[in-house]
Amino acid sequence: MPDFFSLPRERIATLPTPLEFMPRLTEELGGPRIYLKRDDLTGLAFGGNKTRKLEYLIADAKQKGVTHFITEGGVQSNHVRQAAAAARLGGMQAELVLNTPDDDVPLQGNLLIDDLLGAHCHYAATGPDRKPKMAEIAERVKAQGGVPYIVVSGGSDAVGSQGYVGMIQEMNGQLAEQGVSPRCVYVANGSAGTQAGMLVGQALFGGGYTIKGYCVVPGGAEEITQDTLTLANQCAAHIGADPVDPSLVLCDDTQFGSEYGCPTAEALEAIKLLAHTEAILLDPVYSSKAFAGMMVDIRAGLYANDDAIVFIHTGGAPALFAKVDLLKPILSR
Ligand SMILES: Cc1ncc(COP(=O)(O)O)c(C=O)c1O
Repeated sequence: MPDFFSLPRERIATLPTPLEFMPRLTEELGGPRIYLKRDDLTGLAFGGNKTRKLEYLIADAKQKGVTHFITEGGVQSNHVRQAAAAARLGGMQAELVLNTPDDDVPLQGNLLIDDLLGAHCHYAATGPDRKPKMAEIAERVKAQGGVPYIVVSGGSDAVGSQGYVGMIQEMNGQLAEQGVSPRCVYVANGSAGTQAGMLVGQALFGGGYTIKGYCVVPGGAEEITQDTLTLANQCAAHIGADPVDPSLVLCDDTQFGSEYGCPTAEALEAIKLLAHTEAILLDPVYSSKAFAGMMVDIRAGLYANDDAIVFIHTGGAPALFAKVDLLKPILSR
């Protein structure tokens, strides 16, 4: 086994996150025993899956003497919000490139937190405009004697994905302690780093469960499966592990809906169900779509009542405040 534990890591997450049985949700759905891995509680400005990736990205940046931590995302990006917080802790200035068609974008949800954290926000009209803008900022930083560090969308590169290699080891320990052997682990797949890291983690630390990722960005299951496999193998190579078995990379695009960021009726039902049973909030862009996919499998009778399954709650609730209009169908008024 490679020496995964000697890799540079900045301890900024609140770990381990709980692995919790959901009794009311299990009863309501009348299916298998459902467990949540609470990565919405990782800490770092409202938590979420990016904290684990940022532990490695910030450590890498620190080793390189970085002064400006540059990254990108949609205007309500959770990754960007957590990157702004991580950069603060690492003593770096966050430079965030956010795409929005809105010239006068309101300070709400994740963007409000970016601002409170003192990040510099730069706006781009579209997603493809972000990369040139990041390069421009990096040049400006260099010209002023600083050291820039550019992080791709979602922190999903070989370094960032390591965070989810470690999550598998942590979760496997909790499953063993609680005597649980899940048949499937469900997770949202946006920029693929979370699922890719989990696949490498499973190859290293074991676990007899299926990992099922739900696509929340356009591209289709085939392309996203390939991207996830490529990233998993880049991460595996980075830490000296063997490549991942391609047959274990499962990405499902049936919950994507009409567009990125727009919750489907099923995702809204998922938000309402988890809030009303366990008082836990899913987000409208990622976790609710993966949760809806898990509900489809349960309702299709895939599991017996004494089976167990795990849902990785990847966080993202701050986006709820910025998407009130889209939540209307499940609000009282
Ligand atoms: C709340 C939330 N869940 C899941 C994901 C997907 O993670 P990844 O981009 O690593 O696939 C994201 C990514 O932005 C996210 O913000």
